[in-house]
Amino acid sequence: MIRRVIVALTGASGAVYGIRALEMLRELPDVETHLVLTKAARATIDHETDRTVADVRALADVVHSDGDLGAPISSGSFRTAGMLVAPCSVKTLSGIATSYDDTLVVRAADVVLKERRPLVLLLRETPLHAGHIRLMADVTASGAIVMPPVPAFYTRPVTIEDIVDHTVGRALDALGIETDHVQRWDGQRGDGRRAGAPSHPVDFSNIARNAAIGAEASEVSRQTTPSSR
Ligand SMILES: Cc1cc2nc3c(=O)[nH]c(=O)nc-3n(C[C@H](O)[C@H](O)[C@H](O)COP(=O)(O)O)c2cc1C
Repeated sequence: MIRRVIVALTGASGAVYGIRALEMLRELPDVETHLVLTKAARATIDHETDRTVADVRALADVVHSDGDLGAPISSGSFRTAGMLVAPCSVKTLSGIATSYDDTLVVRAADVVLKERRPLVLLLRETPLHAGHIRLMADVTASGAIVMPPVPAFYTRPVTIEDIVDHTVGRALDALGIETDHVQRWDGQRGDGRRAGAPSHPVDFSNIARNAAIGAEASEVSRQTTPSSR
């Protein structure tokens, strides 16, 4: 049986999370994805990734406009397996917390909650004030799973892709969709390293090298820029 999964990208930083979710879901023949992009998400896709909005739309089976409040996913009678909002902005969180259903992303999320289907929010903001935390508590009380994309390091990630994939894989776990992209904890070995984890930790030498280049560049600019004092 086909499982329909709604994926929404909103204007928080981290468009890559939604993109990877679409890519992972494409690997599953029994999943049909329904994509909604907010206007702000189009801007972050453009700003943060090498993909065009058209590239991202092409990853989905069905694409809905955020203004289309008559789309099938705005009704509970259209059966879905749940919804992932990745990344989720504070603005969208606020809309979901208050059922302010004037966009398709918020309406679809509200429908998923009222139908008691899984809603996973990769909420991305930091630091948080009490109002953000209250909104998170409110949506949690309504049944949503708030899952800020906080990296796990027990998997010994080597690349940013490793970090993103683990987070997205765990978010899909929360929707009840299993992928091959999660390194699952299977017990600790005596040396503290997870069995099967890569033996090489993150290579920080590039970061150190870039920092050294940066320091050198600012030294040159200090020498060439006339002092304002
Ligand atoms: C480059 C960029 C990064 C942003 N990052 C965040 C963020 O991490 N979290 C957030 O809540 N809003 C962030 N914003 C602000 C949202 O895009 C803005 O609140 C927008 O109205 C959200 O609308 P949407 O929820 O309909 O997508 C960012 C905006 C830009 C341009």
